[in-house]
Amino acid sequence: MTRWKIPLYEVYWDENDVNRVSESIRQGMFWAIGPNIEKFESMTAKYVGREYAVAFNSGTSALHAMLLAYGIGKGDEVIVPSFTFIATANAPLFVGAKPVFADIEAETYGLDPDCVKEKITKNTKALMPIHYSGLPCQIGELKELAENEGLLLFEDAAESIGAKFEGKAVGSFGDAAMFSFCGNKVIATGEGGMIVTDNRDVYEKLKLIRSHGRLETENYFTSAKTMDYVTLGYNWRMSNITAALGISQLEKLAKLIKMRRRNAAYLSGKLSKVAEIEVPNAGEEFFQVYQMYTVKVRNGEKARDDLGNHLTEKGVMTKVYFSPVHLTYFYRAKFGFQEGDLPVTEKISKQVLTLPMYPSLTTDDMDYVADNVEDFMENVG
Ligand SMILES: Cc1ncc(COP(=O)(O)O)c(C=O)c1O
Repeated sequence: MTRWKIPLYEVYWDENDVNRVSESIRQGMFWAIGPNIEKFESMTAKYVGREYAVAFNSGTSALHAMLLAYGIGKGDEVIVPSFTFIATANAPLFVGAKPVFADIEAETYGLDPDCVKEKITKNTKALMPIHYSGLPCQIGELKELAENEGLLLFEDAAESIGAKFEGKAVGSFGDAAMFSFCGNKVIATGEGGMIVTDNRDVYEKLKLIRSHGRLETENYFTSAKTMDYVTLGYNWRMSNITAALGISQLEKLAKLIKMRRRNAAYLSGKLSKVAEIEVPNAGEEFFQVYQMYTVKVRNGEKARDDLGNHLTEKGVMTKVYFSPVHLTYFYRAKFGFQEGDLPVTEKISKQVLTLPMYPSLTTDDMDYVADNVEDFMENVG
């Protein structure tokens, strides 16, 4: 395993996390279904300003369940970005629907409403934008478009809990939204995900899909009652131990966001002096939480890759988030996509480089990263 001087991310944890999990373990029961789950759900719903939340064992299973709960299936099309983690595009495939890629715009790297409009057909059922790296997409315009066209709007907010567009939390715009709590996210539970919605019917369906289609009026493992199974379901439950971690992580979300934003401001202050680099610079209405810190290398792919390799030599981890989904082997083979299909996505994905960003990053760490970027641009590249 590579030991980085500065890794791409580090989980922020404290004694509260340890104590909550320990308490949950020491109970000696409720390791699977238990009271932490409902507590974590109601805290998340309240935080985002939604009626309901349902916890899952991953963001991916949460997306899958969300599409099932809304009845998306064979013959349906869901418009998604290609500039994303592959799970966004795979989710429609899981339910037999077709992911239709639309291009992105350069301010937020989110779906471009004009490009989305061009992709709408009579089979389109939903739009599923992502909020990239903790930065809201053009969610106001996308919501208006979805409403005008009579389409569902699902927010893949995996990377962006706490982000806001025009003062309103991401996850509160769509018919439903997903958050991920995978280890590298703004708050983390190891693995985990959550769907939020205001729709009671969808909420009830999500709970059934999550747990075998079982009517769980009581805790299955501590109730002697026989429960009925009313639909097809999976085991996509988050464990009660995991939810304990979710609670303590969510309790410090405001602090974590403050730390990430402080670090990003510091790093941007330094890197904005490097002419070849473009730092994140979306408008004021986009309140960014910096799950990732991604710069653009203006000179394109080779310069970007050379910079990444230079930083690797210096012990600084970087990564390309994202290479386009439509150009992966799987999507090329299945749908015949090729270079040129999504010009903006392809151009941006050749320029982006994600640099280390996490709450406990020190100014010394950031000086080291920025100095090495600057040194490379002036002397090596
Ligand atoms: C945009 C996006 N969608 C979906 C996912 C999937 O979430 P998970 O890793 O929790 O399954 C992720 C996270 O990796 C993501 O970044």
